[in-house]
Amino acid sequence: MKYFMKQGDLWQIDAALRGMVQYKEFNLLDSPKLLGQFDVVFCRNVLIYLDQATKDVVLGRIADLIPSDGVLFLGGAETVLGISDRFQPMAGQRGVYCLASEAVGAAPSIATRSLGASAN
Ligand SMILES: C[S@@+](CC[C@H](N)C(=O)[O-])C[C@H]1O[C@@H](n2cnc3c(N)ncnc32)[C@H](O)[C@@H]1O
Repeated sequence: MKYFMKQGDLWQIDAALRGMVQYKEFNLLDSPKLLGQFDVVFCRNVLIYLDQATKDVVLGRIADLIPSDGVLFLGGAETVLGISDRFQPMAGQRGVYCLASEAVGAAPSIATRSLGASAN
């Protein structure tokens, strides 16, 4: 209630909070290094467009963007299991992933990885 106002059936975020948000289009197949750091990444129902190798690369790039206590949200039908060792599921939180503790700071260089397919 502190940050949202009800507008009919929808909720609108507080203008002051919205003013702190930057909206940018970004192709996940490009390097995100200049985007900065993110405490939370919502990447819901996007990985479904990518092949396994590309999912691994994209997940590695996202892992490079978040701090050790950051989290990644994926769609309910998506997972990192069997795709990337950079994330692990958060216990009891469906679709929420944190950095795999053994992988923190041990990221393979994405510069040496190649993207295998287009996103769409
Ligand atoms: C099924 S929609 C999901 C939208 C939203 N995240 C949700 O869960 O409702 C898939 C989205 O992935 C985006 N997408 C596909 N390939 C992408 C890429 N290479 N980079 C960024 N976004 C991409 C599409 O533009 C589309 O908005």
